This record gives sequence, structure tokens and C-alpha cells, in this order.
Amino acid sequence: MHIRNYLRFVLSVFVAAGHVSLYPQPSLIHLSIGSDLTKGKSAPITVTWSSENITGMQNVVFGQKPHPSKSVKARETGYSGGAVYSAELNGLRRGRTYFYKCGSDAAGWSRIYSFSTEPLKGSFTVAVIGDTQDNTNNENFVKSAGVLSAVRQHKPDLTLHMGDIVNDGSMTSSWENYLKMSQDINAESPLMPVLGNHDVNNVKGDNFQMPFDDFHDLFNLPGDEVNYSFTYGKVRFIGIFSGYAQAAEPLGEVKFKPGSPEYAWLDTELTRAENDRGIDWIIVWMHYPVNSFGWSNVKGWGDNILPLLNNHSVDLCLAGHRHVYERHLQVKNGKVAEKDTTKSLSASEGTLFITNGTAGGNPTNPGGKEISTVAYTPDRIMYSYAIMVIDRGSIAFKVFDEDNNTIDHFVLTK
Ligand SMILES: [Fe+2]
Repeated sequence: MHIRNYLRFVLSVFVAAGHVSLYPQPSLIHLSIGSDLTKGKSAPITVTWSSENITGMQNVVFGQKPHPSKSVKARETGYSGGAVYSAELNGLRRGRTYFYKCGSDAAGWSRIYSFSTEPLKGSFTVAVIGDTQDNTNNENFVKSAGVLSAVRQHKPDLTLHMGDIVNDGSMTSSWENYLKMSQDINAESPLMPVLGNHDVNNVKGDNFQMPFDDFHDLFNLPGDEVNYSFTYGKVRFIGIFSGYAQAAEPLGEVKFKPGSPEYAWLDTELTRAENDRGIDWIIVWMHYPVNSFGWSNVKGWGDNILPLLNNHSVDLCLAGHRHVYERHLQVKNGKVAEKDTTKSLSASEGTLFITNGTAGGNPTNPGGKEISTVAYTPDRIMYSYAIMVIDRGSIAFKVFDEDNNTIDHFVLTK
């Protein structure tokens, strides 16, 4: 046999045995949580990926064994860079580990990943990151990769992203590079982002503050994908879109204007969560903080959203945008709590506001010490992320720098 034919024969044997693929593996693999709950089951999980090989049907094969066998056919759509496949996994049992792979025999398979479903009882872990934008010093998300590697050590069950995922949402390559860089964590725990000003159209006109198609094509989020909610454990998570608030303010186009559809939606969501006996905690996350310093403080955003939050029992309100860490004093019915140096906080004192703004985007300032509501902010400029361990009666919140030094920690109790 000629040497070339011999090598082809050897390769075909390995392919047939499933040891190697002739094609590049599926890429941009990430999980997201669906909003529709089946009573008694864990929240549905959607697997989304891209494939360079458009060869027809692709699947997710999943199950509770390390070599899964249950197959779900994927829906095929596209984005400006190629094909997108997604499949929703329903009827998942709580407190279990599931294994899966995605792709097809013809197009190639991913490796086998695993994820945990929401717990039957006990705690779960949520990562909080923001502003991973690929700007100065974070070209190709090099800094974000370091921060996410540290985050991954905490084995989060899901990640909340505060927005400014990319530096310029019009660039398809940035969305691709983010999902490639973060695949190891996103393929094993859902990524639930809200959008920041850098992610959306900044050009004034009909499409001002509108997300780009690549976002809708690549991220499979619940609802309309910019304002959405989901339940995980006994927590109602509500993500809201603050647009490009800074530029929208002089145009009178700041989001969540009283009387707007999104205002009514959020009012209804918060009321429903408050009245749900199965919900212990309400966590809202957004890009623009309601209270910040200098150019990042957009009065119109606070004016719109704060009265609505004050009218409801929101436990935690998380934001990004400013590349700092700030923990603010709790606010109850519009009244700011007294300064308190304790690390044990009671949810009965009101909503706790946190700005946790950089998992890669260039940090340029320390936090706003001069803001009257700031309870704690470190003196130095740094990258940071937070880890929340959420139980029925407590949220243990820890903030770390990129070297995993603890920057702040507190426990919020019911
Ligand atoms: Fe921002």
C-alpha cells in the first residue's frame, strides 16, 4: 500500500473508532437558563454553539452518565460569522450532574462537558462579573481570561454578567472571541448577561441603543433577551437593560421611563416575585449603577429606576459600567441606612446596591469614596469579580481581585 493511502486508512480507522474528528469541533459553546419552569423540575438549560461545518442536523447528546446517550435535535439558525445551533434540555432533575456533547458525526463533536442543575436544597454558587470589554490592556480578552480562570476555581453554578461584554458590539469577531475565551466556564455553567452601552448601537438615530443582531443570534436568553427573568433555587433573578444611559439622557431616551412598557414589565415582575411564597430572594442586575461618580453617574437613570426599586423588596441590586468595586449602604423606601462597619447585614434594612465593574475592561480609577452612599470601596485600582453562595437564609458575598485576594466580604441574612 502506498504510504499516503496507508495514512488515510489509519486515519479512517481512528475516525470510525471515534478517537478523532476530520473537522474542527463545535465552538462558542455556552449554556443559558430558560425562563419556563416545569413544576418540580430544574430550570431548563439551553446549549448553544457554532459550527464551521454546515452539514445538516446537529444534536445535543446528554444524560446523567459520563457517556450520555439521550439525543435532542438542535435548531439551526445563523449569525454573521456562520451557523448557530441550539437545543433546550427540559425535564432535568434537581440536584444532579448532567453530561453532554454537541455536534454530529458528520460535522464533529465537542468534548463531553458537565453541568449541575439547581439544588434540591442547600446552597448554590453564582459568579458576578462585569465589563469584560476588549479595550486597552485587554486585547483579545487577555485580562478577562485571567479573571475567568480565577472565577472558574469557585465552580459557579451560573454567571451573572453586568454588561459591556465586548468593547464594540458591531464587531462580530469580538463576540466570537469572548465566547471562545470563556467557553471552558460557559459550557459548564450558564452565562446570563445584561447588555451595557458598549454592546449596543451608539449611533444616534432609529437604532440608537439597539442590540446588534450578533447578540440575539448568539446568546439564547429568556424573554426578549434584554429584559428577562428566571428562577433558580428559590431566587428570582431579574436582568434589566439600561441602554446607553449617558448619551440617552440629553435625548430624553433613558430606559425605564415611568409609563414605558419596560417599566410596567419590571413592576409586574417585582410584584409577582414578592408575592411568590417559593421565592426567598430577589436579585436585580443591570449595567449602569443607580449611584456613581463623575461621568458615570446618570441622574436620569437613577430617577427612573430607583423609585420603582424602592417600591418593592429587592434584596440585591448589582451593576457594572464603572470599572471599580463599590458596596453602597442599603436603601429602604428611599431612605439610606446608617453607616455600618459590620460584615453581617440584614435584608430587612433594604436593597443593597453593588457596583462590580471590571473583569477585564481597563480599570482607570479607584471607586467613588466621596459618594455619600458608599459603605466600602478599596483604595486601589484593580480588576475584580464576586462570588455569591446563596442559601435560603443567607447570601455570602465575596469579592476578589485577579490574584484571588479577598477585597470585601459580607453576609446578607433574612
Ligand atoms: Fe459601560
